[in-house]
This record gives sequence, structure tokens and C-alpha cells, in this order.
Amino acid sequence: MALVVIVGPPGSGKTTIGRALAAALDVPFRDVDADIADAAGKPIPDIFVDDGEEHFRALEREAVRRAVAEHDGVLALGGGAVLAESTRKLLADCTVVHLRVDLGEAVKRTEIDKGRPLLQVNPRATLRRLMDERLPLYREVETIAIDTTGREVDDLTDEIKARL
Ligand code: S3P
Repeated sequence: MALVVIVGPPGSGKTTIGRALAAALDVPFRDVDADIADAAGKPIPDIFVDDGEEHFRALEREAVRRAVAEHDGVLALGGGAVLAESTRKLLADCTVVHLRVDLGEAVKRTEIDKGRPLLQVNPRATLRRLMDERLPLYREVETIAIDTTGREVDDLTDEIKARL
């Protein structure tokens, strides 16, 4: 069973902070987006283009179910994983860290990494809508919430570790 699950919108730092937290706790790190790409044999943008978002969400639900059951460490989910009610139910038994971020900083961080199929058109407006729609879902599953805006990874990692 996953020790700590990281959720939050795109650009909140789930992979970066999840990896640093795992190192600080001396446990393995796993990223569900990477599991999905491995299982499909292609990158996530290609899954969206070739097979559509519905198919991606089905792969995601299964990848989360498996990772939560198998992984004994820190687990980062994709930003939309909480859309699935089955996933939110699974997370009720986990320690869930919700990483928050301001819209402006999320836009800046996601501009650097272009591999997000949902943010190809009108990234700022899309990100704002996704964040508004999903905030209640992140809140529903969170054990701890922490704002990452303007903060360093080491500082955030120390605070999360102290609050676990
Ligand atoms: C998605 C976020 C992505 C990835 C996929 C869909 C979303 O992960 O799972 O592109 O619906 O917000 P990140 O949150 O790591 O960008």
C-alpha cells in the first residue's frame, strides 16, 4: 500500500516534490503517468491523440488501482486522476498530500514542459478551469494541503515530512 500519495493540478510539482520526498523518507518513488506510458508503450500525448481521453482515463484508473495496492513508497498521480470516483474511494485509505499552486505559477511551470495534451490550446484559461473544477476533488481526498507557490523543493519536502 502506498505510504504517501501526491495529488494536485498540473504544474503543482507532484513529480519533483514526490521524488524529493521519497529520497528524504528513504523509500521508492513511483509516478502513475510513467506507469501508463510504459503499459501503453507510448507517451501520454500519443495516447490522447491515438485513443482519446476516455481511453486514457480507463488506463489511468487501472494504473492507480495497481500502484496504490503494490507500491510501498511515495506515489505521484496525474492531475486528473481524482476525477474518477473509484480513485477517490481508494485514496480514502491513504495519506494524501495535496500540492496547491497559484494559477500564474502553474502556467509558468507547465510552459517549460510541453508534454501536456490538455494544455495545448489556451493553456491559461484551460488550467484555470481545470483547477476550479478539481479543487473540491483534491480537497475531498487530501490529508495534508500545502501551497508550493514561490517555495523551494527542499523547504517543501522538510515541511511535508514534518507534517506526515
Ligand atoms: C492530466 C495531467 C497530466 C497527465 C495527463 C492528464 C490532467 O499529469 O496525467 O496529461 O488531466 O490534468 P500532470 O498533472 O503531471 O501534468
